[in-house]
Amino acid sequence: MSFAAKPPRPPTKGTLASKADRHTCYEMSVQAVDAEIDMIDETFTTLRGRRAKTLREDFCGTANTSCEWVRRRKANRAIGVDYDQQVLDWGLEHNLARLDKNQKSRITLQNSDVLEFGGKKVDVILAMNFSFQIFHTREGLRHYFATAREALTDDGVLFIDAFGGHESYREIKEKTKYKKFTYYWDQAKYDPITGYMLCYIHFRFKDRSWLKRAFSYEWRMYTLPELQEILYEAGFSNVIVYWEGTDEETGEGNGEYSPAEHGEDDPAWIVYLSAEK
Ligand SMILES: C[S@@+](CC[C@H](N)C(=O)[O-])C[C@H]1O[C@@H](n2cnc3c(N)ncnc32)[C@H](O)[C@@H]1O
Repeated sequence: MSFAAKPPRPPTKGTLASKADRHTCYEMSVQAVDAEIDMIDETFTTLRGRRAKTLREDFCGTANTSCEWVRRRKANRAIGVDYDQQVLDWGLEHNLARLDKNQKSRITLQNSDVLEFGGKKVDVILAMNFSFQIFHTREGLRHYFATAREALTDDGVLFIDAFGGHESYREIKEKTKYKKFTYYWDQAKYDPITGYMLCYIHFRFKDRSWLKRAFSYEWRMYTLPELQEILYEAGFSNVIVYWEGTDEETGEGNGEYSPAEHGEDDPAWIVYLSAEK
């Protein structure tokens, strides 16, 4: 039984998939950087009684979120950290290129392992889209959290997101339609003994062509009690979980996240966590 991720399948020539850009599709379907930065900015101000200025985006990928941070205020600075030069180059060419001169002067992208990056201390560290799950042991994750804590200013805050609910432990595919393509979230393997999880993102286009396995993730699924414990073990204080509110009309999540001590048995949920230095 092989649990290793399979490589992307090249699209058929001449199809819509062959002309598509996987990073553009990812940003359109996975990310909502506006709402994310709203939440982080407001929460930091509430927790610390001042506005955050410096932000480090770990696992930054195309640095879309860092770009949003420097667009927000003239005082804001961002550093994006990722160890894949190809994805950083894409971010430079497509996202940083759209910033004005002043915004560009306040953002840096760094090719580095997040565990080895030793830049200046920052007010906020983000590790979004569940990226911390690349650490497959509690010890490894605790080490990352402790390293991040060290890199924060004295009143700095780490933000992560997490997902769960009983559907997250199932080998299922879920699709969401967008104007130009359909996004597939494919939970291909889950191992209950180790917590290992293999997920893919695929995109399907109007001419039925595919970008198969455009992105793959080999993760360890952590529960929220585990995450809170590991954050405290890494030295953080006041770890808060933010649960999503419900839209009364649709019964679906409303995109508003508030501090919560108890959640509900939703089949699938996403939360944010903040952890203070
Ligand atoms: C799930 S993507 C996250 C993209 C973005 N942060 C977001 O919110 O959508 C994961 C990124 O983490 C990077 N990555 C994985 N392990 C890393 C490590 N140890 N150090 C730095 N970057 C890493 C990958 O190259 C990839 O671009």
